[in-house]
Amino acid sequence: MQLFRGHILYSKSREELAVFENSYLAVEDGIIKGVYETLPQALKGLPVQDFGERVIIPAFSDLHVHAPQYPQRALAMDLLLNDWLNSYTFPLEARYADPDFAHAVYDAFVEDLIANGTLHACIFGTIHPEATGYLLEKLEEKGLSAYVGKVNMDKASPEYLCETTEDSLRRTEEFLEKYAHSRTARPILTPRFAPTCSQKLLDGLGILGRKYQTGVQTHIVESRWEAAQALLDFPDASCDMEIYEKAGLLENGPVVMAHFLYPSEEDIRILKKYHGFAVQCPDSTANIIAGIMRNSYLADLGVNLSLGSDIAGGHHIGVYSQVAKSVQLSKLKWLYEPEGNRPIDFPEAFYMATKQGGEIFGRVGSLEKGYRFDALVIDNLSDPFLKLSPRQVVERFCHIGTKDQIAERYLNGKRIPPAGRKN
Ligand code: GUN
Ligand code: FE
Repeated sequence: MQLFRGHILYSKSREELAVFENSYLAVEDGIIKGVYETLPQALKGLPVQDFGERVIIPAFSDLHVHAPQYPQRALAMDLLLNDWLNSYTFPLEARYADPDFAHAVYDAFVEDLIANGTLHACIFGTIHPEATGYLLEKLEEKGLSAYVGKVNMDKASPEYLCETTEDSLRRTEEFLEKYAHSRTARPILTPRFAPTCSQKLLDGLGILGRKYQTGVQTHIVESRWEAAQALLDFPDASCDMEIYEKAGLLENGPVVMAHFLYPSEEDIRILKKYHGFAVQCPDSTANIIAGIMRNSYLADLGVNLSLGSDIAGGHHIGVYSQVAKSVQLSKLKWLYEPEGNRPIDFPEAFYMATKQGGEIFGRVGSLEKGYRFDALVIDNLSDPFLKLSPRQVVERFCHIGTKDQIAERYLNGKRIPPAGRKN
């Protein structure tokens, strides 16, 4: 049994934060046994790790991030999606044919993910199986919960980053087979988005999804251009989501749909039918996609909503920063389009990045009994002028914190030593 003491904060629900000041948290075999304001008799006398004024919170989940785009973060943020992809992103992704380059970047990416408190993530690789396999193995070695996708693109892509349909399907099947028995980092089908995928490719991926019981992640109705292009490319579908439904891709595992900016009623109905997740990536949609998700509207309809960094459309790898941005953008959305939108508050955005996003990985993202102890200890950001409550500490952290305010990280009950150190 491990015992921790400090301020403890987590989401109970979309509306409600649980905050326990100067309380105790018990963990056994990596699983939380309980949170106590006073220590039960049976636990008295056990050693306690005391975090004083620091706040213990659940680790974050990033439901949409491109590992290969890590070297490009915070660059070319003045372009729009299509130009950004063609001028910067595609040429960079082509370099992952080189294993040495891929390994070096993916080592750095995984370190930075952990440093920033993201211990669960849905990650895009590139079309290259070797490099993407290395990324999955690295995450597995670290014990992070992850879904990792070898990207598929067989049309409307530059020649240097385009596969034949047959190669794309064959390499994907090899990838699924190779990692069928991985424990914490698992494969997920990753057609890039409708404009770069043929019908034959999506149908083939649907068959693989069924055979290997594998879910899917992609970009959905992410820009006006993409939403229109998808319907031109797939005239039999009435909306972007139906393209994937018709291919049989939504029934085999988690469904993780990035952006969901311009959904029709039909898109929403289909996403809900398969209990899919819509992922808001606030920085990315402000930077290159030019739109704001109707997050309050979708939440009120009962859509599962989570957050993503979308490195490198987004420039900040810390999902905590997206908590703040999600609140900010909801107010702008409401201001310009009051009909059906409302500002969301800090607890709601924090819930998206922790308990809601964590659902996809199992019992992670909360500090309730029965959840895995994947947690962060946030430094008190001590303020000489105001005494901050635990909630204010975490709110300030999400707005102006950096990885330096994450004093400790725990994964499955085990302390993660800082990068480059053994303890
Ligand atoms: N749509 C297709 N590819 C991408 C990508 O790499 N990032 C984002 N944000 N959108 C995309
Ligand atoms: Fe993306």
